[in-house]
Amino acid sequence: MERDATMQDVLDYVERHQRQYLADLTDFVRIPSVSALSEHAADVAACAEYVAGRLRAAGLTRADVMPTPGHPVVYGEWLGAPGKPTALVYGHYDVQPVDPIGLWDSPPFEATIRDGLLFGRGASDDKGQVLMHWAALEAHLKVRKALPVNVKVLVEGEEEVGSRNLEEFVAAHRDTLAADVVVVSDTDTFAPGLPSICYGLRGIAYFQIDVVGPTRDLHSGSYGGAVANPVEVLAKILAALKDEHGRIAIPGFYDDVRPITPEEKAEFDRLPFDEEEFRRETGAPALFGEEGYTTLERRWTRPTLDPNGIWGGFTGEGTKTVLPSRASAKVSCRLVPDQDPERISDLFESYVKSLCPPWATLTVTRMDGGKPSVTPLDHPATKAAARALEAGFGKRPVYTRAGGSIPIVATFQEVLGAPTVLMGIALPDDHAHAPNERLDLASFFAGIRSAAHLWEELAKG
Ligand code: BES
Ligand code: MN
Ligand code: MN
Repeated sequence: MERDATMQDVLDYVERHQRQYLADLTDFVRIPSVSALSEHAADVAACAEYVAGRLRAAGLTRADVMPTPGHPVVYGEWLGAPGKPTALVYGHYDVQPVDPIGLWDSPPFEATIRDGLLFGRGASDDKGQVLMHWAALEAHLKVRKALPVNVKVLVEGEEEVGSRNLEEFVAAHRDTLAADVVVVSDTDTFAPGLPSICYGLRGIAYFQIDVVGPTRDLHSGSYGGAVANPVEVLAKILAALKDEHGRIAIPGFYDDVRPITPEEKAEFDRLPFDEEEFRRETGAPALFGEEGYTTLERRWTRPTLDPNGIWGGFTGEGTKTVLPSRASAKVSCRLVPDQDPERISDLFESYVKSLCPPWATLTVTRMDGGKPSVTPLDHPATKAAARALEAGFGKRPVYTRAGGSIPIVATFQEVLGAPTVLMGIALPDDHAHAPNERLDLASFFAGIRSAAHLWEELAKG
């Protein structure tokens, strides 16, 4: 008599298919789905088709590429467990640009394995994790012909450009996407081999500042001293946005910042965080941040203001004596609960404008925005995820927050009324958004095991 397939059979299947997962990830990485660059639009579309095809092959009963005004969304589902909870898995198939390309040790879209790490753009942000979920779903569906819960899968192509169209998409398809819990694996673990449940993400508000002085570049000898220099005006404005204690000087900026509780602070202090090792990893000669807060508090619970880039005037070889007509900067603020990107943008814009002297004109352009979020720790789904991670990694997870942003998480909470569980598997030093992005394969395989356990654990309620 044939016995019913068990969870162990699912895990055995996952173990036997490791080579397949690496081959799949190699194919997935090969598609240069860079959402920011229009020259890659066709690649992004091809990548959506690839993901839909893999979800179908995994055994989902539906997997469609759905258009948006921007890059398409992939939606799939398997709803064969009536009466059981429904989970929505979210991830993104788009990746960051590869520049500076010269600093890659192997071509960014040709996955290369060295020392247990798979190098390639998107390997750990977020293609490896999207694959980890379809691999676990496939294992259940191939071995047991069913999932213990209902699962919906949403994979977007615009996360790296601020999820511009996803909020509207989620609102328009709220019934299709309805779920009891959202599962996201686009965060990192606290340390190698130490699984983490992340319960807080920062939001973001992003700006471009343009300062214009004279209508054209001027000879700095003939005009210098008589006309203000926009590079200098901009530099002074940027310098005035923060004081020497690392505090942001925009009036009202901190009004809505929710302070952390003493309990939360104590939890942070218990995490195995090595300040000096963190410093070494950054390469900075010393750490610097807002006075009165620890490094973890600064990264996870305090807002930031950072110029991301600045340009203007002559930057070429040699010298050119010029008084430039204009100067610009891109500035972003990471936001924390309960700051609102709209309100912060208003405060930012009026303060920056108030700093511009009458001898120049200044414009602020608002770019990406996203709300911060915190997810519930006492929700049964969070506990199920903790058990799944413990089973997959052989170690109890720690509870962390993240400094990065996944703007759509707040929307899931607001529009779908569903809490999100953040169970990422990337390592903090995976070089996301940078040259030599990589995925730690031990974490990857532990993640697939955890994802397989998750459906079983969620079914327990
Ligand atoms: N996976 C990251 C978000 C992240 C980073 C979470 C680190 C936890 C730790 C995501 O792909 C990302 O890069 N988000 C952008 C959002 C932005 C483009 C609006 C970010 O945080 O810069
Ligand atoms: Mn990501
Ligand atoms: Mn990213």
